[in-house]
Amino acid sequence: MAPVQTEIDELRQTLRRHEHLYYVLDQPQITDAEYDALMRRLQALEAEHPDLLTPDSPTQRVGGAPRDGFVKVAHSSPMLSLDNALNEGELNEFLSRVAALAAGDPVQYVAELKLDGLSMAAHYRDGLFVQAVTRGDGQVGEDVTTNARTIRSLPLRVAGEWDAFEVRGEAIMTRRSFEKLNAGRMAAGLAAFANPRNAAAGGLRALDPKVTAARGLDFHAYLLLRDGVPVMQSHWESLNELSRLGFKVNPHRRLCGNAAELREFLAEWERRREELPYEIDGVVVKVDSIPQQNRFGWTAKAPRWAIAFKYAARQAETVVEAIEVQVGRTGALTPVAHLRPVAVSGVTVSRATLHNEDEIRRLGVEIGDGVLIERSGDVIPKVVRVTAQGADRRPFRMPAECPVCGGHIVREESEAASRCVNTNCPARLKESVLHFASRPVMAIDGLGEAVVDQLVDRGLVRSVADLYDLTAGQLAGLERMGQKSADNLVRNIDKSRANPLPRVIGGLGIRFVGERTAQLLAQTFGSLDRIREADPETLCQAEEVGPKVSASIREFFDEPRNLELVERLRGKGLRFDHPIKERTTGRLAGKTFVLTGTLPTLTREEAKARIEAAGGKVSGSVSGKTHYVVAGEEAGSKLAKAQDLGVPILDEAGLTALLND
Ligand code: IVH
Repeated sequence: MAPVQTEIDELRQTLRRHEHLYYVLDQPQITDAEYDALMRRLQALEAEHPDLLTPDSPTQRVGGAPRDGFVKVAHSSPMLSLDNALNEGELNEFLSRVAALAAGDPVQYVAELKLDGLSMAAHYRDGLFVQAVTRGDGQVGEDVTTNARTIRSLPLRVAGEWDAFEVRGEAIMTRRSFEKLNAGRMAAGLAAFANPRNAAAGGLRALDPKVTAARGLDFHAYLLLRDGVPVMQSHWESLNELSRLGFKVNPHRRLCGNAAELREFLAEWERRREELPYEIDGVVVKVDSIPQQNRFGWTAKAPRWAIAFKYAARQAETVVEAIEVQVGRTGALTPVAHLRPVAVSGVTVSRATLHNEDEIRRLGVEIGDGVLIERSGDVIPKVVRVTAQGADRRPFRMPAECPVCGGHIVREESEAASRCVNTNCPARLKESVLHFASRPVMAIDGLGEAVVDQLVDRGLVRSVADLYDLTAGQLAGLERMGQKSADNLVRNIDKSRANPLPRVIGGLGIRFVGERTAQLLAQTFGSLDRIREADPETLCQAEEVGPKVSASIREFFDEPRNLELVERLRGKGLRFDHPIKERTTGRLAGKTFVLTGTLPTLTREEAKARIEAAGGKVSGSVSGKTHYVVAGEEAGSKLAKAQDLGVPILDEAGLTALLND
């Protein structure tokens, strides 16, 4: 075998093992950077040897070109639904029916979590993933193979003796991915998804596989079939086999010998469901023995050998008594519904977010209306829909002045949110201080909401810089603050001066500049002063900084009040410098590239990955410091600028030559 083939094989094997460890078992053994380096090496080899590319390669999870629609595919056997048991009584009825059908034979049950996503069938032939189909109407689904490839926990290749088999399971989105997705959508002025299931369904059925990939879907397997029927004699064993084959099988499952064990499992997960990183809506109970399953058979809609025990919906109806607005750190006004208190799965809910004016319009909600609300995870409850219009309903109007400081309110054309423009607004200030002190930013322990409220209300803190002047004496005078906590807090504030520059940048609260951007800015420019002095074009030299972010940074530093804050923080001894770690190894170390236009074979990401793998840097804009511009078809102003400045221009072949030199 050619040595490249051997290296490619080994890389694929290594990557697959680490994907399984990371995405299926949740036990990574290497860092993300190490994984990325291996992946880039494999991508580079495959690009050089396109003949050696195979569809099961770990590089093929990125998603291909968008399509116009989906091909319909008939299922090997119907993907039916399950009957529901909504309470103990209905569960008991199911258990009695099964006992009668078993006619005296002992029955074992498998209890599994009922993940709230959408079901999908994945087909394998000769150890390779070949096709994925959505449930559709149960008889016919849609071919979503390319999209499913982007699901990292779905193996593209399995070892095992099965020549052809099918795995059915649930495609889901974790709460964390869901919240991140919605936060991003809201920041971009797009409508938020109502729940992770809708976001997962949209992702799996997206025409552009890159959309699927970005949603970070997960797949939990629960049925192993061949020719549409179970392969093994025991469902429990088939779950174990799926896990051995490398599929993610939900670890929270139990083989129950009697009804008491089953009930214990149901009660345990009703109590613990909030601990899970994804949403469940109940527990699925299945008869373990496949011969018994076959004897019991199916009704037109569902199997007689299984039931979905549904937990009480975490929704409830109540009335909107008022709508008030809250002011956030960026001055964004969030309308919040004040509700007649109502119990939702054990928690009393009296407030729900309405996000923004567009959301209020979409819901058509007014003060006095009856609404359905929903609690999910730890997030603040939200209004699902209006159930009854109130007799004396009154529409909500966004105030013209900030309810906290009386400042001017503006709503930009392109944005969903209205904002208070007064940077000294106490509500904004409180949020800024909390943000400044938070874990990912300056990590000042002991500076929680109760303390910050008092500090701002008593005028002890008018800007985050004032934190560094606080004395233990002042703090000890606050409510619920002892001498010891006061001393600790002063010490923690003091310690935070040593935080590296990216944290300081994060602490300034510049819009669109989160942890990662702060890190990249610090790395690119090496000091806060260089960032402050940079024009928008120069700022774009930092990775991932585009026109929107650079404009926001510029706007921040153009505001005299912000400059004053920066100078005060400098005076308090915070770190304003950041040693730049230049890669000094690699063929392209120290060289800066700018990519423009469409290259004939490489995507922009691929070209970037290769340049970086060789130690080079990719920047967003051309300047005197650019070493090369790589131009493809339809290159625009960057190419013209490179020509003006006399920067060497390469085509893809030129870049490849440089990389392989
Ligand atoms: S078994 C005939 N197991 O619930 C067997 N379904 O209400 C059918 N679901 O369409 C499915 N977790 O989307 C099964 N552990 C689990 C499940 C599960 C979630 C979903 C699935 C199905 C729906 C039925």
